[in-house]
Parts: sequence; structure tokens; C-alpha cells
Amino acid sequence: MPRPLTSSSAPSTGFASQRIAVLGAGKIGSILLQGLLKAGLPRERAFATVRHPERASVVSTQLSLPVGTDNRAAARQADVILICVKPQAVRDVLEEIREAVSPPQLVVSVAASVTTRHIEQALTGPVPVVRAMPNTPCVVGSGMTGLCRGAHASQANLETARGLFETVGRTVFVDEKLMDAVTGLSASGPAFVYIILESLAEAGVKVGLPRDVATLLSAQTLLGAAQVALQTGDHPALLKDAVTTPAGCTIDGILELEEGKLRVTLIKAVVKATERAKQLMFEGQ
Ligand SMILES: NC(=O)c1ccc[n+]([C@@H]2O[C@H](COP(=O)([O-])OP(=O)(O)OC[C@H]3O[C@@H](n4cnc5c(N)ncnc54)[C@H](OP(=O)(O)O)[C@@H]3O)[C@@H](O)[C@H]2O)c1
Repeated sequence: MPRPLTSSSAPSTGFASQRIAVLGAGKIGSILLQGLLKAGLPRERAFATVRHPERASVVSTQLSLPVGTDNRAAARQADVILICVKPQAVRDVLEEIREAVSPPQLVVSVAASVTTRHIEQALTGPVPVVRAMPNTPCVVGSGMTGLCRGAHASQANLETARGLFETVGRTVFVDEKLMDAVTGLSASGPAFVYIILESLAEAGVKVGLPRDVATLLSAQTLLGAAQVALQTGDHPALLKDAVTTPAGCTIDGILELEEGKLRVTLIKAVVKATERAKQLMFEGQ
């Protein structure tokens, strides 16, 4: 019997007793913070920063909590420090907070490309560091986050990080050498899938469906197919075969996909995104 594709066990809720600082409450930082607040993190235990004071007041209104620009002050108050700035800004933020961070505080970085070693070296002492790679579907609780730990992080630290990210979706532990691959597949992946979704909807319009109906059919088809793959654990080829009646309609469509090189194009897209993920850390240094 194939096993369903589960990534981890029941979510931990230990984060509710922690104080959490999100440094860089932009797209991903705000999504995570909203997920944590929704899952029961008391507002008085949440701290957030952005770079620009004018953004701070906008984000503060959106999140209904004080948002500042002082990373050191936010880090000093927190048990868990989530670094959610762009990869090129990580070095400056670490420089700013290094005197305010020491074990057992936990640093969790979602920055693409930036290694745990790089973060550890920029901090003082054996600070536990966990690296995470979430994606934007976290906004609806259907995110996917890859996690790995640095040299000073314990299994308990990894579990703490898992608990945070399971408020917004699923998690999986991987070796750090695979984090750029996670970035290329599941962090960049939603963009690739939106193009597929949009293209299927366009196809629906081409064959006569109203656009809103075509978009619904397209999106729900992607969601349903993904749920079947996750819940059955069946190989996608088997699931595809189950749709493909001999001499039916689907095989004609599949022939077009093969001729148009959909498979190899998607593979190359993930490979390119993974290669790019390896470079980001070295920019702006
Ligand atoms: N977006 C994704 O799908 C995704 C997925 C996985 C991982 N990530 C990672 O998440 C990180 C953030 O990406 P994003 O898409 O959320 O970017 P974003 O929307 O541009 O957010 C970056 C945030 O960082 C703030 N910031 C910049 N410098 C700062 C500083 N010195 N101190 C405090 N805050 C600072 C910015 O503040 P201002 O608003 O004031 O400029 C902004 O709020 C990146 O490292 C990326 O690799 C992103």
C-alpha cells in the first residue's frame, strides 16, 4: 500500500509561550506573523521590524501590533528571532543584533541562499540557528517549509521551528545541502504553478468557457490533483494513467504536452531557480 505523503507529525503549540521577533515584516515575515497570531501567539509576545519608519506604521496597522525599525531592541526581547529580510540585507541585520543575541535564544532565518554557517559566524557564541524555506501559500495555511539546523541547534530547536511553520502549513526536514533545491522547487514553485493555472484557464476560455468558470475549474483541478497525490501517496504517473482512457480525450492532450516539452521545461525551471538560489548570498557582500 502506498503511504500518504505526510511530512511531519502533529503540530507543536509550544510557540505560544515564546516571545517572537520578526525582523523584516515584509511579504513572508507578515504572513508568518499573522499565522502565529491566528494560532494563538499572544500579541504582547510578538515583535516586528521593517526598514522604513513609514512602512512600520502601515504594517503596524495591518498586524495590530507595534512595529519598529530597531532590530536590536526587538531581538533582545525575544526567545525566537525570525530573520525575514532579503538575503542581501541579512549581513547588516546580523551585525546590528549580534550583541543582543546569545544562547538559548534561537535564530531562524528564511533568507534564501544564506547558510546557517554564515549566520553562526556573524553572531557571537554558539547561538542555535535554524534555516527555513517557506512559500507564499503559507498565507492560506497551505504553505510548505523546508527546515534544517545549524551546528549549535538541537533537535528541540528544530522542533520549535517546526511548530512555528506548521501554523501556516506543512514542514519537512532536509539536509542543508538541499535547501537551495527546496528554494527552487517549493519556494519558487507557486509562481510556476500560477503560470500553469493561468494557462489552463486561458485554454478554458479558448474552448468557450466564461473566464471565471475557467479559472475555477483550473484552480480546483490543480488543488484536487495535489490533494489526491498527497493523500494516497500514489506515484503521479499512476494517477495520470487513471485519467487516461485508451483512445480517449486525455491521451490526445498529453501528446500535445509532450510535444511542447512541458516536463523538461518545468525541470529546467526548477534547476535554474536552484542555481540562482546558490548565488544570492554572495550579492551585496
Ligand atoms: N517571497 C517568497 O515567496 C519567499 C519564500 C521563501 C523565502 N523568502 C525569503 O524571505 C525573505 C524576505 O522576502 P520577502 O519576499 O518577504 O521580501 P519583502 O516583502 O521585500 O520583505 C522584506 C522586509 O524586510 C524589511 N527590511 C529590509 N531591511 C531591513 C532591516 N535592515 N531591518 C529590518 N527590516 C528590514 C523590509 O522593510 P521595508 O518594507 O521598510 O523596506 C521588508 O519589510 C527573503 O530573504 C527571501 O529569500 C521569500
